[in-house]
Amino acid sequence: MSTSRSEQSPAARLRGVRVEYSGHVAVRDVDLDVSPGAIMAIAGPNGAGKSTLLEVIAGTTPLTSGNRVATQRIAFVPQRAAVSDRLPLTVRDVVTVGACGRTGRWRRLDSGSRASVNDALDRLGIAELAAVPFSTLSGGQRQRALLAQGLAGQADLLLLDEPTTGLDTASGERIRAVMRTESRRGAAVVCVSHDPSVLGTADRVVTLEDGRIVS
Ligand SMILES: Nc1ncnc2c1ncn2[C@@H]1O[C@H](COP(=O)(O)OP(=O)(O)OP(=O)(O)O)[C@@H](O)[C@H]1O
Ligand SMILES: [Mg+2]
Repeated sequence: MSTSRSEQSPAARLRGVRVEYSGHVAVRDVDLDVSPGAIMAIAGPNGAGKSTLLEVIAGTTPLTSGNRVATQRIAFVPQRAAVSDRLPLTVRDVVTVGACGRTGRWRRLDSGSRASVNDALDRLGIAELAAVPFSTLSGGQRQRALLAQGLAGQADLLLLDEPTTGLDTASGERIRAVMRTESRRGAAVVCVSHDPSVLGTADRVVTLEDGRIVS
């Protein structure tokens, strides 16, 4: 039996969430439902807690108090992806990790998974970087490779932290197209952004100020 989107359980649900960093409150009093099949933008000034809120949704930051429930298949594209220069992974390897999540770890990829890796590389415009070490990529290129990893894994929840900052117009449009296509596929998309064209693409804009949702 199929269920309509409004009946589906949220991809992530936060209740009464608070995050403190050594006494400094970064996020407070946050109740939030992230819906499948929709794009949510998170806006607000520098230091408002946007990245921290995205990490809370991703499950990578411990809560000081409150609750988080979320789907398992999450693609998280952080604002600055740190990676060791000694990690000998190519861009294709990084994207392939996404597809492994679907087929089971360490299995040989079947032709469908290989196709999904190539498709993800194409959709993010990084096919020509496939053989390049991930650690040598620029910040924006890293973000695109991590987003491609999420596409290859058909994540239910895509979390993007300022993915179009510093990108040229064509690359920004490519990212927005991916966000729209993935939300139409049924994924929940959450994107931190100051970019008016991203905010215009969103179904819902949540504004943070001083760690609190104000609209
Ligand atoms: N790991 C951390 N340790 C200590 N304080 C932190 C840490 N991460 C964030 N903060 C603090 O929490 C607050 C919220 O930071 P956050 O990075 O979430 O803001 P932001 O809205 O994403 O800002 P920006 O627009 O600059 O990316 C800031 O005051 C920041 O200094
Ligand atoms: Mg941030």
